Amino acid sequence: MQVVGPILEIRALRQKLSGTVGFVPTMGFLHEGHLALVKQARMENSAVIVSIYVNLAQFGPREDFRAYPRDLNRDLALLRGEDVDIVFVPSDDEMYPPEFSSWVDVEKVTERLEGASRPGHFRGVATVVAKLFNIVQPSRAYFGQKDAQQVMVIKRVVADLNMGIEIVVVPTVRERDGLAMSSRNIYLGPGERQAATVLFKALTLARQLGRDGEKDAEKIRRQMASLIQTEPLAQIDYVSIADSETLEELSLLDRPALACLAVRIGKTRLIDNLPLE
Ligand code: PAF
Repeated sequence: MQVVGPILEIRALRQKLSGTVGFVPTMGFLHEGHLALVKQARMENSAVIVSIYVNLAQFGPREDFRAYPRDLNRDLALLRGEDVDIVFVPSDDEMYPPEFSSWVDVEKVTERLEGASRPGHFRGVATVVAKLFNIVQPSRAYFGQKDAQQVMVIKRVVADLNMGIEIVVVPTVRERDGLAMSSRNIYLGPGERQAATVLFKALTLARQLGRDGEKDAEKIRRQMASLIQTEPLAQIDYVSIADSETLEELSLLDRPALACLAVRIGKTRLIDNLPLE
């Protein structure tokens, strides 16, 4: 496994690869969710490239960029175990030099949910992912369903900018009690970790209500919110039952829908989602 920082070097290595290249962009502090992406990339491609880069541009001024967990040596050891070919660890200086002034702004799908709660977040994500795609030139790129809106944004970028990269979406990996794997789970104290299970409970409640024939999306949102409010450490940012294609809030469950939520457990903001059949 080669670990490279300079963009010129990764470009040179990429050019030597033949066959398909699977790419997994990450911000490091890897967990089983990331490894599921890497494993699938490994199965489906001749070569696998993983990037590790904590992208300041996607964090708001009061968000956790400085505190975001980092452990490069641990990440590299995990990736060696997955037979990764190249790990790309770019520097801030090369990714965002002082003269940097081109951004990728995606409209519509970014207006709701995470986009509304975290202004500028998707501009940072779309820009860094477009840059990484241009540098790495993958055949396929792998993203987790947990960040459902991020996946939609990236699919939009790839289609609108004619990048010709296949976006592969991998199911959310969960802890035994349902909590979605996230690098931010490390922030949770023991009481908070227990409280965080309320997210998955609310999502499974939504799914069950849908299965039981409830069609009124507002009723489902209200029941999810009531359940979350029984947890004293939880503070709702949003609870959404939305069209799974557009993320527009639904009043009636008459098409494929996604239950999404963002909840603060103490100071930690967690997101999760579940498709409703
Ligand atoms: O999902 C993430 O970890 C990040 O948003 C990504 C796609 C690596 C871009 O920084």
